[in-house]
Amino acid sequence: MEKHKPVKNILSISDLNYEQLFNVILPKCEKEIPFVEKRIPRESDPTKKVQLLFTEPSTRTRGSNIEAVELLGYRYDQVIGEEASALAKRESLANTARMFAKYNAGVIVARTKIEGAQKFMAKLLEKDECQCAVHNAGDGTNQHPTQTILDLLTLKRHLGRLDDLTIGFFGDLKYGRTVHSLLSALSYRSGINVVLVDTPETKLQKQYRELFPAVTESDEMEALVDCDVVYGARIQEERFDFDPIILARLRARFTVTSQLLNSLKKNVIIMHPMPYVQEFPPDVRKDKRIIIDDQAWCGVPVRVALLKLSFENLETKVFPEDRPDIVLDTIEDVSLAEYRLHKARKNEEENQYFYPIDCGTVIDHIPVSTGPKIKQFLIARGQLKNEGPVHLIDRIKKTRHEEKEVLILRNNFLEDRVKMAIVSLSPMVTFNEISGEKFRKIKANIPSKVYGFGKCPNKTCITNNDPEAVPTFTHTTAGSLKCWYCEKEFLRDEVI
Ligand code: NCD
Repeated sequence: MEKHKPVKNILSISDLNYEQLFNVILPKCEKEIPFVEKRIPRESDPTKKVQLLFTEPSTRTRGSNIEAVELLGYRYDQVIGEEASALAKRESLANTARMFAKYNAGVIVARTKIEGAQKFMAKLLEKDECQCAVHNAGDGTNQHPTQTILDLLTLKRHLGRLDDLTIGFFGDLKYGRTVHSLLSALSYRSGINVVLVDTPETKLQKQYRELFPAVTESDEMEALVDCDVVYGARIQEERFDFDPIILARLRARFTVTSQLLNSLKKNVIIMHPMPYVQEFPPDVRKDKRIIIDDQAWCGVPVRVALLKLSFENLETKVFPEDRPDIVLDTIEDVSLAEYRLHKARKNEEENQYFYPIDCGTVIDHIPVSTGPKIKQFLIARGQLKNEGPVHLIDRIKKTRHEEKEVLILRNNFLEDRVKMAIVSLSPMVTFNEISGEKFRKIKANIPSKVYGFGKCPNKTCITNNDPEAVPTFTHTTAGSLKCWYCEKEFLRDEVI
């Protein structure tokens, strides 16, 4: 069984393990149902304060949090819209969060346009030793984990199971954050068949599709006929400029008509996080299989349970310290004379670029056309501390079919964290350091986290919106980099 780590923040489904999500959180939410149904007050502890920060509109998430706070007998304060706080005066989110904690908020429930903002606040507050947790109530197009927990509770209540389900999603799967979070959670379960009804404009990102061994994809709502669960997502028209003609076409396509309802399973459940626009026309809204009101109600027991849980675990430390975890492996450590002799014997073409320098670094095995990027990166980041020419040799024959590039940095040696950034861009490179008649060839492993280098290409990522947010990436198995904050995946050279 996975080790039970206390649950303090609710930031993203991918931060929670199976044990936390299904054996801790969900049973606690289920336990709250009878209390919420009977409206039984719980703790009555006005020393506990919840700060709501909603810089995007909300009816259900905000309303159910307030209802939960009142049933718990805690206090709350709310900031609705950016203009209601000093954020409108360009105060940073970091300082906003610090102030909330200073005024005794134990939990900040935040909804933002900025992606990764909640993770950033949670990490910052922990670093500042504030006992304050953060719940992500939706961050841009990224995640909405508390909605997913209430979606799971709804599934459990109506179907009695979370495995062996055929679940169909329709609508805006690209920007609909509730879909992303729910798919992440369902990927932990077994026997889940996913059906996606989308169009090129609303296509689910690869990283979520790949959570499942196979998904069925269609642009027709009729693909939903065999589903046990149908889950709709509103077109997120406020997030980007939709052509009105395309928008009208998408709206018409993603509508649950009475004709479609007739073709669906008799015992299907139809869910939607709401708000909906045209998805359910008035003539179908009363169909018993559309359980969206009960789904929205589940938000109250869920938020009661989550707030209680966070207050119980405020002392927990969650985030590891940020430091480059590069491991350097010295492959050769010989005298320069020895090295030259060895190379001369092999009569390698390489001699021509190792020979001319007697002090400095030769970065070898750079993939073709990556050399200029590394050179530019080192110069732009002021990493070449000593005077000395930087020389790029392009297109050297590596084997009969392969070519490489070499970068010569005369008189310069690189810090470990700079090596880490370069390796993250080009994993195959070696660093050859020549000084004091010594030659050292170093290979570096790919660090699990790239910290403090690169730039997230996503403009709405917190790292592009708060001066204290340090770019941080993790490597994916497919060889790309994933922003630790906004969770979007990019090619290595888009980032560094
Ligand atoms: C959703 C959201 O905010 O992501 N609503 C919700 O929280 N219940 C869905 C949406 O806005 O379309």
